[in-house]
Amino acid sequence: MHLKLHVLLGLYLTVAAQSDRPKPVKRGTTHSSTPPEPEPIEVVELPLPPVTSNETTGGCTLSVNPHGTGCIGANSSNLLSGTFLPDGDHVTASLEFTGAPATPDPASIYTGLNLIIVRANGTLFPNGDAWKCITCGVPQDQQYGLTSTMDYQYPQAFNDGTRVLAGNYIIDCGMAQLASPECTPDKVHIYPIRWNTSPDGSGAGGDIRELRKHPDDVHISFNAMSLSGATTAQYAYFARLEFNPAPTTGTPLTPRYDLVNVTGLYESKGAALISANGSALTINTKAISVGEARGFGGVGDQVQYVGFPAESCNIDIFGVDLQSGEVVRVTNGPEYVDPIDTSPDGRWVVIMDTTDTDRLMFFAGMRGVPPLIDALTTAAISSIRNNGKRRFFEPWIYDLDVAPYSDDKGYYEGQQVNADDDDSSGSVSDSFWNGGADPRWSPDGTKIAYFELLTQEPDCGGSNPLPCPVSNAPGGRNARLMMATLTSREPLARVVVDPVSDTVPWGEPYVPGSGAPTAPSVPFGNYTLTGQVSGHADVTLTANSAGTALETVDATYHNYSDDGLNFIAGNEKVTALYPNVTLIHVDWISNLSSSGISNSTKITGPGGFHFDVDVQLNKFYANGSLTTTVDGVVYRQPENGC
Ligand SMILES: *[C@@H]1O[C@H](CO)[C@@H](O)[C@H](O)[C@H]1NC(C)=O
Ligand SMILES: *[C@@H]1O[C@H](CO)[C@@H](O)[C@H](O)[C@H]1NC(C)=O
Ligand SMILES: *[C@@H]1O[C@H](CO)[C@@H](O)[C@H](O)[C@H]1NC(C)=O
Ligand SMILES: *[C@@H]1O[C@H](CO)[C@@H](O)[C@H](O)[C@H]1NC(C)=O
Ligand SMILES: *[C@@H]1O[C@H](CO)[C@@H](O)[C@H](O)[C@H]1NC(C)=O
Ligand SMILES: *[C@@H]1O[C@H](CO)[C@@H](O)[C@H](O)[C@H]1NC(C)=O
Ligand SMILES: *[C@@H]1O[C@H](CO)[C@@H](O)[C@H](O)[C@H]1NC(C)=O
Ligand SMILES: *[C@@H]1O[C@H](CO)[C@@H](O)[C@H](O)[C@H]1NC(C)=O
Ligand SMILES: *[C@@H]1O[C@H](CO)[C@@H](O)[C@H](O)[C@H]1NC(C)=O
Ligand SMILES: *[C@@H]1O[C@H](CO)[C@@H](O)[C@H](O)[C@H]1NC(C)=O
Ligand SMILES: *[C@@H]1O[C@H](CO)[C@@H](O)[C@H](O)[C@H]1NC(C)=O
Repeated sequence: MHLKLHVLLGLYLTVAAQSDRPKPVKRGTTHSSTPPEPEPIEVVELPLPPVTSNETTGGCTLSVNPHGTGCIGANSSNLLSGTFLPDGDHVTASLEFTGAPATPDPASIYTGLNLIIVRANGTLFPNGDAWKCITCGVPQDQQYGLTSTMDYQYPQAFNDGTRVLAGNYIIDCGMAQLASPECTPDKVHIYPIRWNTSPDGSGAGGDIRELRKHPDDVHISFNAMSLSGATTAQYAYFARLEFNPAPTTGTPLTPRYDLVNVTGLYESKGAALISANGSALTINTKAISVGEARGFGGVGDQVQYVGFPAESCNIDIFGVDLQSGEVVRVTNGPEYVDPIDTSPDGRWVVIMDTTDTDRLMFFAGMRGVPPLIDALTTAAISSIRNNGKRRFFEPWIYDLDVAPYSDDKGYYEGQQVNADDDDSSGSVSDSFWNGGADPRWSPDGTKIAYFELLTQEPDCGGSNPLPCPVSNAPGGRNARLMMATLTSREPLARVVVDPVSDTVPWGEPYVPGSGAPTAPSVPFGNYTLTGQVSGHADVTLTANSAGTALETVDATYHNYSDDGLNFIAGNEKVTALYPNVTLIHVDWISNLSSSGISNSTKITGPGGFHFDVDVQLNKFYANGSLTTTVDGVVYRQPENGC
């Protein structure tokens, strides 16, 4: 394996030298285009293993799957899709096989959570299946350090076609292409990825999550939770993957990938988001505020993240240049956005976004309000994007060359990938089929793979509660793998990204054993925030009784404008309390109005608006109301428990 990496590097450089390599273009800083006309998009469902209704041992009989290559359960598939393989003909996915017969039946290997690849061009593997399991039947001694809590989330294929990053593992097939008949279970190795967090290299290493592979195949971004303090915090990191065939410290003491050259993606020396100078308050929209790293943008020059809002209550993706530290706002729509993937040429993104349902417009429909209360509300608002397991986001494509606002077209919101006139039950646009993370571009930029889960009780909403829809997918399964084809696009030339630097000059080199960074504290007191175009806001930032953390933001706007489009007047006062480490209680009084490109109001009812949300449960419960009206269109909060 160690040898192989050198071989690969040689192969890789040859490919790089031969390929037709587009020049990286910085996107998101200049906007040249008017919004494109909606383009034709065809969405199909990709095949999955058959469903067995009998999930006990042997329930996956040859009458359910005549090839003896496994079954899934209708409600237990745990499907997660990933990326295309470099050939563009296959999509990676992880899922749970069930009902396998006992050993020594050859079909006994099709059991439990596994990595599969699915044919995406309508053809079949030589055995007649549309999918191939990569990890089924891998010898025990080639599965290193697997734990019972393992998963193969977000399976991301490397550019060499032989390896996949899945969960916290790298799965490879030696020199064999995963899709080729040469890739058989005896050639597959499953290696854990370890982040050393102890000074002497001992122990199991730190808990890492949400790993995203850099297009250079040698770096990743990841996130780590920190439960210190009153609330949950998360920090993002950038690191190099280094294969360690024979580790001498730390567990597991098996061949593994170590994360080296780890950099914290936070900037303790840099400008704070909100800072005070005398009585003047400043919001620095160019401050680096990586909430959760979501992968890489541009052509690998940018790390993308869910960041502190640029406009109040509006959750967006931002990008920061790995070298220069320059921050750009990648998405602009008022609704919630989180998973994102950038097209190979760096021009387009596909995002999962709640625009289709207007779910968060009652918070975010009024544009151009500066993000003051957001120091308290961002986690709570983000948590209302879902109702329990029901997700409201759908895949949208968004052209990074288009200006976020134009006088004749208004705000640019991109194009929904699975919009369709036919939104009947089970259709591609049936909104009871909820988008999952992450949608992914094909290497030639003409296709997008994503997956969906059917809403299950008790998350259907309504007061009774409403009945959930019955699945009409094959076998009544509640998961489906989808592929959209952008039929009018020409395939892009293959883009190969050279390895980027291990060093992120603005970040903090991570030292094993060091604690989580301390977040810069927001100043308390009375301030004036001056609008960049007009007006000002009188702002009072009040600490909790212990004087340790911000608890209340009170802002009164006087014809305030940062964008010259929206002029804000009125008062808003918000208090956030944290009954426990995941629960947030928010008290809100608002009487805002906006003029300019639209006439909007954002008003709480008598007694204000009070809500609870647990960031892990995503259930919304409120007393009172908050209503936003934009040019006569009224946006209300969801019903409780919905
Ligand atoms: C499920 O499959 C097993 C093994 O074939 C069989 O013994 C059992 O009777 C089946 N259960 C049902 C309810 O069909
Ligand atoms: C899947 O789960 C739902 C909700 O629990 C249930 O109503 C449905 O019958 C299940 N479907 C199957 C095929 O077991
Ligand atoms: C489909 O994909 C397979 C595997 O990459 C390839 O051999 C075949 O030529 C493709 N067929 C079509 C019609 O694209
Ligand atoms: C990266 O890590 C390797 C292995 O730990 C080390 O030899 C190298 O000096 C590091 N590079 C930088 C830029 O820190
Ligand atoms: C603070 O404000 C004063 C007066 O406007 C100005 O002279 C000084 O440069 C400011 N300091 C910083 C760090 O911006
Ligand atoms: C802030 O202003 C309020 C109301 O004008 C006043 O009651 C309070 O004392 C002021 N707080 C500080 C720290 O100056
Ligand atoms: C708000 O500011 C703008 C720009 O300075 C100005 O044109 C407008 O008249 C002001 N509106 C009010 C109500 O003061
Ligand atoms: C926080 O409180 C909520 C509501 O009582 C409860 O559901 C949740 O489990 C609690 N979380 C923790 C981490 O204690
Ligand atoms: C909201 O603000 C408007 C304009 O200042 C004012 O007329 C109205 O009385 C306020 N409403 C409440 C409930 O305070
Ligand atoms: C906002 O309301 C004012 C006063 O009624 C009206 O003149 C203006 O046209 C409205 N603006 C928009 C964008 O509808
Ligand atoms: C809503 O009001 C009820 C009754 O006063 C109270 O028990 C509950 O905690 C309140 N919920 C929120 C989110 O404020």
